[in-house]
Amino acid sequence: MKILKTTKELIDYRKNLTCNIGLVPTMGALHQGHISLIKESVQKNDNTIVSIFVNPTQFLAGEDFSSYPNRYEADLKICSLAGVDALFMPCTDEMYFENEPTLLAPMKQSYILEGYQRPKHFDGVLRIVLKLLNLSKPTNAYFGKKDTQQLFLIQNMVKTLFIDTTIVPCEIIRDEKGLALSSRNAYLNENEKLQALNISKSLKIASKELMRGELHVNNIKEKMREVLKELDVEYIEITNRKFEKIDIINLKNSIILVATKVGKTRLIDNMWI
Ligand code: PAJ
Repeated sequence: MKILKTTKELIDYRKNLTCNIGLVPTMGALHQGHISLIKESVQKNDNTIVSIFVNPTQFLAGEDFSSYPNRYEADLKICSLAGVDALFMPCTDEMYFENEPTLLAPMKQSYILEGYQRPKHFDGVLRIVLKLLNLSKPTNAYFGKKDTQQLFLIQNMVKTLFIDTTIVPCEIIRDEKGLALSSRNAYLNENEKLQALNISKSLKIASKELMRGELHVNNIKEKMREVLKELDVEYIEITNRKFEKIDIINLKNSIILVATKVGKTRLIDNMWI
């Protein structure tokens, strides 16, 4: 596995490839969620590039940018064992310049839900993902449904900026108890881990209600709120695939999204219907 630390190294590496390329962008502290994206890429492409870069522009002041978990040695091993061909690990100066044009995520879909709680977060996500796509020019790029609003905004960017990459959505990976895997789960103590299980439990309750025939958004949200009552809920929303709020669930294209704080840790989860 090649370790690429500068953009020049990545550009040179890419120039020598004529095969199918899969890109998996990450911020490191890799877990089974990331690994599932990597495996999918390794299976479907001749060459897989993984990037690890804790992107400063997507963190708000006061968020965990400076304390974001760093597992350099473990990440290296995971990538190598998973069959990754190149690992791109740039420093911030490689990726950002003092004067550069900036990209803004569409207001309508980036200042709601995650973006309401984290204004400008998606501007930073799109900025870095665009740079990573431009550098590695992948055939396919892999993103998790765990960050479903991010996935949607990236798909929209690729379509509207005519980027020649297929965005591949990947399923949410959970632990054996149902908790969606996240690098931030590392912040949870034992008690918080137990409390966090209520997040996926609330989605299971929603699913049961749907199976019973309940389609009213308010009724389902109410049931979910009961399960989440011990937690500091930021939002429970049910939307269509464009993240527009709905009153009645459409069984073909709705999404249920939850964000809560567990202690000081902010966790998100969702379910596509
Ligand atoms: P990060 O949180 O490291 O996640 C990298 C990728 O892994 C994202 O596409 C995310 O949706 C996916 N992922 C995380 N947890 C997952 C899980 N439990 N199941 C399936 N996929 C999961 O998302 C980012 O980094 C950044 O915003 C990034 C896109 C790299 C831009 O900086």
